Amino acid sequence: MQYKTDRRVQSENVILDIRNLSLDYIMPGQNIHAVVDLNLVARMGKITALIGESGSGKSTVALAIMGIQNRNAVISSGEIYLAGTDILSMPKKDLRSYISNHAGIIFQDPVDSLNPLLTVGEQLMETILMHEKITKKQACAIAFNQLLAVSLPQPEELMKKYPFMLSGGMCQRVTIAIASVFHPLLLIADEPTTALDVTVQAQILHQLDLMRKRDGTAILLITHDLGVVAEIADYVYIMKDGHIVESGTVDDIFCDPQHIHTRQLLAGML
Ligand SMILES: Nc1ncnc2c1ncn2[C@@H]1O[C@H](COP(=O)(O)OP(=O)(O)OP(=O)(O)O)[C@@H](O)[C@H]1O
Ligand SMILES: [Mg+2]
Repeated sequence: MQYKTDRRVQSENVILDIRNLSLDYIMPGQNIHAVVDLNLVARMGKITALIGESGSGKSTVALAIMGIQNRNAVISSGEIYLAGTDILSMPKKDLRSYISNHAGIIFQDPVDSLNPLLTVGEQLMETILMHEKITKKQACAIAFNQLLAVSLPQPEELMKKYPFMLSGGMCQRVTIAIASVFHPLLLIADEPTTALDVTVQAQILHQLDLMRKRDGTAILLITHDLGVVAEIADYVYIMKDGHIVESGTVDDIFCDPQHIHTRQLLAGML
């Protein structure tokens, strides 16, 4: 089976290239056009921010990239090139492993993202052993290193703990550890700090920035926090009612916004 690929995409350090994506939610009596003809690119070693008011379609885009769709979601057109291959042209049987080998996602509420019934070690080991045919001992060594890499000390102790025994910030680091265990080319962070207090927010963002610098990970950061965007993002996309209304470098967007909606967002009117 030959998938749709695009070499140009790979040569320009483009990890993610979404072209003309449209997605509807089918509801009784009405269809919600959650994503309309959307184009978006994320590059290696760069932070790309996706911002927009609540309900504009940001999480829908994130889930579509991860191949996770609600039952009532229908993609009516478009392509999602992840590492040069259009995932929408892939058969379902190959999709899961392809996506999980190339992309990871972390969500707003770290406590909800983790399984409350499994220890940190069990969750991390489960992910590692799902991907690699290695011994438990080897997987354990990877898990230790991974926890240290997200600045969680004493990994032996931590592996035995359940999520409820950890702070919100520690839980979010664990979700980053799980999402990044195979050094994904793309990490999607959907409002990763909204549920955390300000100091912890800064630490988590620092962690993402570190991954970008150290591993060259492309980060797609979904956030409401324009201060964060101004500080760490390289490129910005502004979304409204399923459409990208404006995009550009951080300087373009903050110094010379063109679209009225962007100006309103920046002025804090939305
Ligand atoms: N499963 C679903 N069925 C029907 N409509 C949905 C479904 N999921 C999301 N929607 C609708 O799709 C639109 C986009 O939702 P989405 O969650 O992507 O927005 P968002 O930009 O992530 O918002 P927020 O900032 O609040 O997280 C909204 O109108 C939402 O109500
Ligand atoms: Mg959302």
